[in-house]
Amino acid sequence: MVHAMLAERNQFVPASEIRRIYNMILGRDDVIDLTVGIPDFDTPQHIKQAAKQAIDDGFTKYTHNAGFIDVRQVFADKLKRDNGIDADPVSEIMATAGGMGALVLANLVLVEPGDEVIYPDPGFVSHYAHVKLAEGKAIPLQLKKENGFGVTAEGVSKLVTDKTKMLVLNSPNNPTGGVISNEELKKIAELAIEKDFYILSDEAYEKFRYDNEKPLFIGSLPGMKERVVSLFSLSKSYAMTGWRIGICTGPSEVIGAMTKLQEHVIAMPTSISQKAAAAAVEGSQDCVKEMLDTFKERRDIMVKGLQQIEGVDLQPPGGAFYVFPDVSAFGMETFELVMRILNEVNVATVHGSAFGHFGEGFLRLCYAMSTESIEKALQRLDTFLPKLLRKSK
Ligand SMILES: Cc1ncc(COP(=O)(O)O)c(C=O)c1O
Repeated sequence: MVHAMLAERNQFVPASEIRRIYNMILGRDDVIDLTVGIPDFDTPQHIKQAAKQAIDDGFTKYTHNAGFIDVRQVFADKLKRDNGIDADPVSEIMATAGGMGALVLANLVLVEPGDEVIYPDPGFVSHYAHVKLAEGKAIPLQLKKENGFGVTAEGVSKLVTDKTKMLVLNSPNNPTGGVISNEELKKIAELAIEKDFYILSDEAYEKFRYDNEKPLFIGSLPGMKERVVSLFSLSKSYAMTGWRIGICTGPSEVIGAMTKLQEHVIAMPTSISQKAAAAAVEGSQDCVKEMLDTFKERRDIMVKGLQQIEGVDLQPPGGAFYVFPDVSAFGMETFELVMRILNEVNVATVHGSAFGHFGEGFLRLCYAMSTESIEKALQRLDTFLPKLLRKSK
């Protein structure tokens, strides 16, 4: 019998802790699931219709590795209109398998063994995993509750060395909901020019912002064209998590290298999803507005409900569909707290340490769930957490 001889890099890439909790509750309908970030909305009808039409019209074959050129043209129009980014559909835009597809390819084409990549902590778990996969050195940038979990140029500058190859940004951020202010984005852009590093800007939650500031996108700022790779995902914006489609733009040599690599990994994202994505971004945006309004209502319910629970400390997040309350008052590791909550009142949350070392002391609760589930979860938490707090004192 041959023993599995897995390559060493497998050890450096962590398994998802979110999936660990999620897998524990699979098939249990007594549990209110606030774990994985899957919008509870169905994909809007006109997008599904475009996919059916694509099948009927025979768009069922391989496409260019960067995606259909007419779809890339539609993406170029979106990037200009929504994000202020001018990009050539032929050489500077590609379709990817969700935001994830862009993230992994960007790391693999840019990061050399030993290069340092600064990434947000707490942050989306794959940001760390991709740097490790590329054999880079992952340098955590602590996001702090005190400044709304935003990134500051000053915070980044303290971590920059002559080995810094790239900075990963994600605003609004998963898991904290924190956003980076326009003022800081401009300063970060200046720092990137001065210190000469790339920026990988994960815009997966671009559509879900609740603050009043009109967001700037770092890829649109002066001097950023040659050093920013921006990725946008249809998953969250249009409730299309299962369609696996995203948009990536950046310097032509980077997009060219990513396109070449994509050929060897998935060839291209599904032709049908590409056509559906074009319909999503060029069609009416009312569906996005409806989702945003609903998420805002749910965010307010979630924040108000949690703020009333003794021991839970939370400020309203500026975006995405997660809250990240400080639960350090309970005096236990957050994985244990998650298990206690799950076992006692059947509410599934995720421990902050699942999102990096600096996430310990916090919990992530996703509010892309029905309002009814959120209210029920809050009631359950309110019956349990105050008792637990008294016991732990
Ligand atoms: C910050 C962030 N980036 C990227 C992704 C990847 O999403 P997808 O590959 O579905 O676009 C996610 C998914 O949760 C995310 O939270």
